[in-house]
Amino acid sequence: MSIKADELRAQINSLVKKYAAEVYVPKKFVAGESVIPPSGKVIGSAELENMVNASLDGWLTTGRFNEQFEKKLAEFIGVEFVLSVNSGSSANLVAFSALTSPKLGNRAIQKGDEIIGVAAGFPTTVNPIIQFGAIPVFVDVDMATHNIDVDLIEAAITPKTKAIMLAHTLGNPFNVGKVKEICDKHNLWLVEDCCDALGAKYAGKMVGTFGDIATLSFYPAHHITMGEGGAVFTNNPQLKMIAESFRDWGRDCYCAPGCDDTCGNRFGQKFGSLPQGYDHKYVYAHLGYNLKISDMQAACGLAQLDRAQEFIDKRNANYDYLRTRLLSTLNDFIEIAEPTLNSTPSWFGFPVTVKEESGVSRLDLLKFLDQTKIGSRLLFAGNLTRQPYFEGVEHRVVGELKNTDRTMCQTFWIGIYPALNEEHFEFVAEQLEEFFGVNF
Ligand SMILES: Cc1ncc(COP(=O)(O)O)c(C=O)c1O
Repeated sequence: MSIKADELRAQINSLVKKYAAEVYVPKKFVAGESVIPPSGKVIGSAELENMVNASLDGWLTTGRFNEQFEKKLAEFIGVEFVLSVNSGSSANLVAFSALTSPKLGNRAIQKGDEIIGVAAGFPTTVNPIIQFGAIPVFVDVDMATHNIDVDLIEAAITPKTKAIMLAHTLGNPFNVGKVKEICDKHNLWLVEDCCDALGAKYAGKMVGTFGDIATLSFYPAHHITMGEGGAVFTNNPQLKMIAESFRDWGRDCYCAPGCDDTCGNRFGQKFGSLPQGYDHKYVYAHLGYNLKISDMQAACGLAQLDRAQEFIDKRNANYDYLRTRLLSTLNDFIEIAEPTLNSTPSWFGFPVTVKEESGVSRLDLLKFLDQTKIGSRLLFAGNLTRQPYFEGVEHRVVGELKNTDRTMCQTFWIGIYPALNEEHFEFVAEQLEEFFGVNF
């Protein structure tokens, strides 16, 4: 770059810093007037500067920022391979699809095979299974942790079972020690959806590093963001290569954007019934799509990674504060999720279940919260099998989904994301006390 261009870039960066100091500052909270969102992004000067610099590079597609992002995220998680993708949903699609690759021989998941999971969660943890033509098999969840009831899994296993695919619900790890033990015993793949759980640990080890392949989301509600984005990660080099192929149009070749002949044998191979020497760059091994991110997205994510641990610690501190505060007065009316035994969650939201004996309806409570400008969310689909799109979808339910239905009817979550603090939570607690008629 010329000296003139360098100088201009420095001037632009300095202006961006000034702009961020003016605009990206915490807003004063006015009780009853300010909205308390259930989730949100926390970005500032570093993210803006990185995004502007990525734009000035003019490279646009996945480039130098993404290279650093994938490397740094791999270090943060303690995993060998990270592939960025354009959403958490795409990450789940790529992770599941990787397990269907013919390159895996008789371990490849086939149409009609069964995949065990839960129905109380986000649809795109399950959708890749359905889309491929495999059968989701649902077992019930445990109300205390909002995760799979691990005692129900073995009864759901048949000769057709090939994998377990589960999310760590709202940042609370499922009992991945037990689930992995079952997978090992029955030779099943394990896919960990960590979209809501970056930084959560089980037995002192990051979630996502127990199973074969795992996923993240970087949508603004999540622990770190790049607007839209996600990642697939694994320690398995073969799964990494296959996942990359599914992400990059399904191609067999693994050249980075703008590169040719990385394998050194671009014109020397024979594939399927294509002619000898057909350009490796245009050989497609899988039914893939283009699910890559732009370098502007990676640039934002890279700056966010520097703050990931701070964000996780703040979310957990917020969770602990709100839990203690609400249990001190509302224990007779609501249930609050507990961290899974042997785990350190990385809370995404604060789940609350309205006790039936409280005599109040969740719908009335949600409307009341809405009026008081306290944002709330349901535990996503509640019970997936009851969603309109599930009509006619082939699936199997093992046992009863009693707690799943209870989650659908009685549970919701509120925000604990890093921009919220004790001032917000005091207001939330007071409003809930007013609603339940608790007066001090
Ligand atoms: C558990 C889980 N998996 C997957 C996703 C999908 O992520 P995205 O919105 O980035 O597609 C979400 C979204 O919040 C989620 O909560």
